[in-house]
Amino acid sequence: MENGTGRNAPPAGGEVYNKERVERLLAATGDAQRELLERAGRAKAERVGRTVHLRGLIEMSNVCSKNCLYCGIRAGNAAVERYDIPDDEILSAARWAHEQGFGSLALQGGERTGADFARRVERLLRGIKELSGGELGVTLSLGEQDRDTYLRWRDAGAHRYLLRVEASNPGLYRRIHPADSRHDYHRRVECLGLLRDCGYQVGTGVMVGLPFQTLGDLADDLLFMRRMDVDMIGMGPYIEHHETPLCGAAPLPPATERVELTLKMLAVARLMMPDVNMVASTAMQSLDPAGRERALMAGANILMPNITPRRYRDSYKLYENKPGVAEDAQESLRAIEALAARAGARVAYRQWGDSRHFAARQR
Ligand code: 5AD
Ligand code: SF4
Repeated sequence: MENGTGRNAPPAGGEVYNKERVERLLAATGDAQRELLERAGRAKAERVGRTVHLRGLIEMSNVCSKNCLYCGIRAGNAAVERYDIPDDEILSAARWAHEQGFGSLALQGGERTGADFARRVERLLRGIKELSGGELGVTLSLGEQDRDTYLRWRDAGAHRYLLRVEASNPGLYRRIHPADSRHDYHRRVECLGLLRDCGYQVGTGVMVGLPFQTLGDLADDLLFMRRMDVDMIGMGPYIEHHETPLCGAAPLPPATERVELTLKMLAVARLMMPDVNMVASTAMQSLDPAGRERALMAGANILMPNITPRRYRDSYKLYENKPGVAEDAQESLRAIEALAARAGARVAYRQWGDSRHFAARQR
């Protein structure tokens, strides 16, 4: 059942999630934490069901014009071998996903702008729609673009867009990005509004456990997502990459703590915004072999099996110890089935699995 108001208002039952309460929930340990995660698991089952929807992830290119201080494929990292998967290989991966029964794809890549890039993505989208007879849904994650580009891609068949705000506190955002106009907090937030205006299901999210980040920041992140009335959430733990400036910039909570904190963030997000789609991120699995199933049990309902052709995978390392770089697509899919089963969930095939929140706000 969707939130009848269509907005991410406090859920039925009169629960109020203000900053103070959210911060307290994020600080929970022991029994209180267990109870929180279980409640979120139940809320998920009630509001979006125990079904997991898949987005076959194609990491189309690691060429990026930006220099985020945390990211392994930032433009300034000369140690990365750059690739740009040719269109025909992207379309073959899409065809394979369609044959396997995937309902949707996610096209992700470094941020690039310009008319050639916009045209190329538009062509790819039309190709994906054509080869699947319109059956494959597409989520894009290609960063900040102008309104015209977002509209073109929407017209060409993309209907969901994930643009993480990364940190909703402008001060923290500034500390994890270079201080220049290409990395502008307000521009990023503006893009979330543009995407909504262009008719996308809009997703955002943050990294959890960043240097300098406080529990108050994380509570504000969740309140930001609710205020933005987003349809989808993508959150994962921050993981250091040694070839980046942020690495070692400040002491970090240990990996296990970042995992626990991310689980609590997912759980509180599910309670505050019960009908959104929420990803169990690969980064969770990097820090905890059971990370993704734990995320599903704490409220996530989306998995993104990596179907990038294997020879490119090693070069798409936003963070270190990324799992699955040696797996082929078939292996990824089998692993996904098994992990969903361990979380008591069933994988849905041949369905888009759109955000129920989006459906509610359309009404
Ligand atoms: N650790 C965890 N997540 C990262 N991302 C980029 N670098 C890192 C890192 N070092 C995330 C960002 C981006 C998404 C594609 O990957 O949140 O939006
Ligand atoms: Fe580029 Fe995204 Fe990495 Fe930033 S996080 S450097 S935009 S790929």
